[in-house]
Amino acid sequence: MQCLRLRFRGILPRLVPIRYYAKKTDIPEDVMEEMEEGFINLCNSDSPSLLRKYLTRDLFDELKVKTTPTYKSNLLDCVRSGMYNFNSNVGIYAADPESYKTFAKLFDPIIEEYHGFKQGDKHPASCFGYGSDFPDLDPERKFILSTRIRCARSLDGFPFNPMLTHCDYAQLQTTICRAFDRLCGEFSGKYFAVCNMKEKVKEKLIADHYMFREDDPFLEQGMAFRYWPLGRGIFMNRQKTFIVWVNEEDHVRIISMEKGGDLGRVYERMIIGVESLAHEMKFAHDPHLGHINFCPTNLGTSIRASVHIKLPSISSEATVVDVAEKYSLQVRGTRGENSSPDNGIYDISNKRRMGVTEYQIITEMYNGIKAIIETECQAAMDMERIMKATAKDNMVLKGEEMQKIKRVDKCSPKKKPGDKKNRR
Ligand code: ARG
Repeated sequence: MQCLRLRFRGILPRLVPIRYYAKKTDIPEDVMEEMEEGFINLCNSDSPSLLRKYLTRDLFDELKVKTTPTYKSNLLDCVRSGMYNFNSNVGIYAADPESYKTFAKLFDPIIEEYHGFKQGDKHPASCFGYGSDFPDLDPERKFILSTRIRCARSLDGFPFNPMLTHCDYAQLQTTICRAFDRLCGEFSGKYFAVCNMKEKVKEKLIADHYMFREDDPFLEQGMAFRYWPLGRGIFMNRQKTFIVWVNEEDHVRIISMEKGGDLGRVYERMIIGVESLAHEMKFAHDPHLGHINFCPTNLGTSIRASVHIKLPSISSEATVVDVAEKYSLQVRGTRGENSSPDNGIYDISNKRRMGVTEYQIITEMYNGIKAIIETECQAAMDMERIMKATAKDNMVLKGEEMQKIKRVDKCSPKKKPGDKKNRR
């Protein structure tokens, strides 16, 4: 009896319902157990994630036995990050391109809530337009410290992080580096593999916002750091204005950046960079979802255009957010995804990435930043007016006080020492 109890003790603490063992499935038992436990913990948590919102018990039971046709990814491969990070906003990554279909019942509502892009919608064909349509937003360099535009791409024929093998990481890097070798002019540069990078060099590149960090808990639980630093690296042109991250969150992240507010020039450089790389590799694309990447937040155009902007006169963050939201822009701090604005310096970027073209996104960004700069100028003018008025009021007050003092001085009888009347 004692022995039996002990045996049961080994199984029972996980509180795993027996029913799923009855189903025929390719999912190994330990994965099922981890998934079941993770699901219960997630339900009992106060996580604000879209994963928690949309993964109901019925849906979980339906999806937990499924795997994708080619790479055999399962639900846990997609939701592990959100199950272990209750502070996730989204909480799910696609383990491979097919995950978006196999687990569509979960991905679709999440994509709809995040992007406002419905299941029946179609992402439009790429349309970059011309960077020259957007003149410098801040020619006097009074507000915008830097401008950055990035997009993500996945190589066709490969899964995403949780399913990539040791060999895949190496092979991806080789293929991508071959494309770097063919870049020319402003775009030619050098590839730095993380394996060979000195710690100090890496820290400096991170501090200067060129290089990715390796401490993101969402990515870590999303299985994006396996075999690190194998196959990871960064390509930079000589001016450090065209940068490509290799095998960080996505197979490639293509970045164009520079100091100041010349959004058009930064955009033009990104277009040429993406198109040059697309000549050398086939990127994954879906007629419904657009460019397919690891995180559902990076579908469609996968564009994130951002500026670091100084807004010293707008006194509250709420005002910045207010104007930004009118143009579908989002506001955050300059030290990464979950940081908050510091010292009146904001990171402002587009929120929409799906259901719109690249050109529409940059136009919205351009108009939004222009409006925010106008709000800042207005706030500066208001502040100046108030300060002038206060200074004037102070002068008037001072003048009146002086008059009063003079009057009092005139009326009051001269105090003489020893005068009895004055002694009371
Ligand atoms: N997985 C994280 C979350 O759910 C980040 C999502 C968006 N960011 C990203 N780098 N893909 O909050």
